[in-house]
Amino acid sequence: MHPIRLLLLAHLTLLLGAPLLRAEPIPAPLYETRSEHDPNGIGKFFLGREIAHVMGHQAWGWLERPEREEEERTDLLLEALAIQPGQTVADIGAGSGYFSWRMARKVGDEGRVLAVDIQNEMLEMLMRNMAMRRVEKRVKPVLGTITDPKLPPNSCDLMLMVDVYHEFDHPFEMITAMISALKPGGRLVFVEFRLEDPKVPIKLLHRMSEEQVRKEMRLHPALKFLENKSPLPQQHILIFTRQ
Ligand SMILES: C[S@@+](CC[C@H](N)C(=O)[O-])C[C@H]1O[C@@H](n2cnc3c(N)ncnc32)[C@H](O)[C@@H]1O
Repeated sequence: MHPIRLLLLAHLTLLLGAPLLRAEPIPAPLYETRSEHDPNGIGKFFLGREIAHVMGHQAWGWLERPEREEEERTDLLLEALAIQPGQTVADIGAGSGYFSWRMARKVGDEGRVLAVDIQNEMLEMLMRNMAMRRVEKRVKPVLGTITDPKLPPNSCDLMLMVDVYHEFDHPFEMITAMISALKPGGRLVFVEFRLEDPKVPIKLLHRMSEEQVRKEMRLHPALKFLENKSPLPQQHILIFTRQ
C-alpha cells in the first residue's frame, strides 16, 4: 500500500480506537448563591447541592475518636482500597492524618503519601501524628488551596477523599486539578456518608448520594465511573478512574 494511504489508515485506526470522551455541558454560572439555606452550608450550590462549611482544625478530636474504626469500619475501607507497596497515594483533605499513617504502612519505604490540606494547623498536627507512628519519611505534607491541591502532574496512583468532597468550596476546579495530578489509569475515590440511608446519623449537608457524586463527575470527561464498593456500614466508596 502507498505510504500516505498507510499513514491515513493508521490515523483513522487511532481515532476510532481512542475512548470517546464525552461530558455533560458545564453549567454557566457554575455555582449559584442563595440567601435562604441550611445553617450547616455556605449558601453556595453546585448542581443543586449546597456546599458544607469546612471542618475547622479545632474539631480534630472527632476524626481521631477511638470508636471511629468500629463505627465506620475504617479497616474495611483500607482493605477495599487495595493499596500496593511502592505506590504514590494522595490523602486529599487529610485532616489529622487518620488515613495518612495507615496508608503509609501500606505503601512501604518505596512509596509515598501526599497529605494535602488547606489548614496548616491540620498539617502540623498530622506530621506530629506521623512521627508518633514512625512513618514521617513516607508522608509529605502539602498545603493546598481551595481550588488546587498543588500536586505534581501525573504523580498519583490513588487519590482518597474521606468525608471531604462535600466541603470543597470549588468542587469543579478541585477535581479538574486533581485529575491532572492523577496518573492515567489511577483511581479517584470518594468516601461519603450515604444520603440515601435515613439511618445514617450525620447532618444532611455532610452526606452525599451516589447519584449526586456521579452527576458532578460527569462534567469531567477524563473520569470514568468504576464501581460503588459497599462493605461499609454508613459510607459509599465511589471509585472513578482517569481514562
Ligand atoms: C472532615 S475533615 C476529614 C479529614 C480526613 N479525611 C479524615 O477522614 O480523617 C475534612 C478536611 O478537609 C479539608 N479540606 C476542605 N477543603 C479542602 C480542599 N479544597 N483541599 C484540601 N483539603 C480540604 C479540611 O481542612 C479538613 O481538614
